Amino acid sequence: MDTTYQHLDASDADALADFLLHETWPFHGPTALDRDAIHRRVRDGFYNGDDSRTFWITEDGERVGLIRLFDLADVPRGGAPLFDLRIGRAHRGRGLGGRALAWLTRYLFTEFPGLRRIEGHTRQDNRAMRRAFRSGAYVKEAHHRDAWPGEEGRVHDAVGYAILRRDWLSGVTTPPDWHDE
Ligand SMILES: CC(C)(COP(=O)(O)OP(=O)(O)OC[C@H]1O[C@@H](n2cnc3c(N)ncnc32)[C@H](O)[C@@H]1OP(=O)(O)O)[C@@H](O)C(=O)NCCC(=O)NCCS
Repeated sequence: MDTTYQHLDASDADALADFLLHETWPFHGPTALDRDAIHRRVRDGFYNGDDSRTFWITEDGERVGLIRLFDLADVPRGGAPLFDLRIGRAHRGRGLGGRALAWLTRYLFTEFPGLRRIEGHTRQDNRAMRRAFRSGAYVKEAHHRDAWPGEEGRVHDAVGYAILRRDWLSGVTTPPDWHDE
């Protein structure tokens, strides 16, 4: 299968709304987004602008996933970008998410030569994303209790991972210093 990562552009607003609204996103929590709101976000630069860039993940020409990179405007001031990675339900569990994580990591470290770290957060019970982080040399740095609102008023813990440029370059992951108190 041929996987590509293609810039989302303004003419993709309808396709984006189809993708976001027709799929299920069990770990993203309640959303009030509708088609109009997604169109508005596309127009307002939520997906592409100074602070963000968005890519379709395609497999043999079919759009199967989405990567949104954000907090990019902070990078020149030393900030770490974040991302939202989504694979369509029918395509999960086949390696696409792990490969997309490797792609976006390389993309960010290459596009921003001064970038030292990339961060990612997910819900504690998102096993696939957490395994992808670990396989991708991201290291768990944070555990936030009761931080991730879920469906029906439930609340979950959130976990934070990051990868350092120096680890990415060396292939050696360095853990945080947890014993500093
Ligand atoms: C999370 C997500 C991006 C992972 O992508 P994916 O293509 O499904 O995952 P992959 O096939 O690349 O597998 C990644 C790892 O998770 C494991 N995995 C896959 N599905 C799993 C599942 N349902 N339960 C537990 N582990 C799973 C794989 O074995 C692999 O482990 P390894 O790296 O140790 O070999 C994708 O499932 C998704 O988009 N889910 C919904 C949206 C979401 O939760 N996004 C993350 C928001 S922070």
